[in-house]
Amino acid sequence: MKSAKIVGLGKYLPPKILTNLDLEKRVDTTDEWITTRTGIKSRHIVENNTPVSVLAKEASLIALKRAGIKPKDLDLIIVATITPDTQFPSTACYLQDYLKAKKACCFDVSAACAGFVYALTCAWQFLKTGFYKNALIVGGEVLTSITDWEDRSTCVLFGDGAGAAVLVPTGKDGILSSYLGADGSEADLLILPGGGSRNPVSARVVEERLNYIKMRGNELFRIAVRIMVEAAKKSLRMAKLTSKSVKLLIPHQANIRIINAVAKRLELEGKTYINIDRYGNMSSASSAIALCEAWEEKKIKKDDIIVLDAFGGGLVWGSCVIKWI
Ligand SMILES: CC(C)(COP(=O)(O)OP(=O)(O)OC[C@H]1O[C@@H](n2cnc3c(N)ncnc32)[C@H](O)[C@@H]1OP(=O)(O)O)[C@@H](O)C(=O)NCCC(=O)NCCS
Repeated sequence: MKSAKIVGLGKYLPPKILTNLDLEKRVDTTDEWITTRTGIKSRHIVENNTPVSVLAKEASLIALKRAGIKPKDLDLIIVATITPDTQFPSTACYLQDYLKAKKACCFDVSAACAGFVYALTCAWQFLKTGFYKNALIVGGEVLTSITDWEDRSTCVLFGDGAGAAVLVPTGKDGILSSYLGADGSEADLLILPGGGSRNPVSARVVEERLNYIKMRGNELFRIAVRIMVEAAKKSLRMAKLTSKSVKLLIPHQANIRIINAVAKRLELEGKTYINIDRYGNMSSASSAIALCEAWEEKKIKKDDIIVLDAFGGGLVWGSCVIKWI
């Protein structure tokens, strides 16, 4: 076997919708500011502290059904998330238990908004070497659990959701290339400072609101555009293709202005999947849900070349080229 292909996709969005008008009542913001600066109109959010594993389970059940693979036959479960149910056990372990996928080995990937691309690349490697016969990967987040509802510059951006993909080995095509990167020297640009071993939970952490996302959006914006363009070009070069062959670009959904700038520089305007208006930024879940939704809307057909392209806190980034089979 030389590669791996996706044989099932699923997504789950919690039913409650939070609109920009709802946010106008919570913080000093307007629908107009949010729409023009970010492209977001609404986002889905969990209620009653629903953990990310529950969203992951719903998305996974759909993906497994579409793939025709029974949970008991799964070899590998990877969950990409920065909002795990608990620091440990991993969310993948909770998911394994829900699914009764007793045979599967399980781990989480922490690569923020590039998490799904990182997880996809890990699964691809396990499958192309013949180490495993199938894999379930999930990008899932409950970002509202780490959102500071008193910070208007971040609380308008994020949403909750999960997307899942089932992969099996294949002799040709499927995933053609992957390019992953990171730059830890810029960690402070987008960070959850509290709750880990650097700043364990304490009264001070809570008082200083370090248990919430901190972001220097303006600085990130410029880096995001440059790196996402570079990453897509690199993964296409690795696949010996150019953007002319691409049917659909599926970029991380952080900001419509970033998406448009990346699409323009790659000459893929009109071939770019966008759903940020309905969901906001869901970190690792954004790419997973966008891929699933594009497929459900029949925007992906056999033999199409599609490019996933993501960037996030770490900094981390990744791009995968897939020939759909
Ligand atoms: C976060 C982001 C939307 C902010 O947009 P921006 O155009 O950069 O806005 P700025 O942060 O420069 O703020 C501009 C003004 O709007 C204000 N503002 C910020 N949030 C606001 C809100 N929700 N409502 C109204 N005004 C707001 C700021 O206070 C600032 O006011 P000032 O000029 O009086 O100081 C944008 O920077 C972004 O999307 N960044 C990249 C995010 C990203 O790539 N993340 C990584 C992947 S997850």
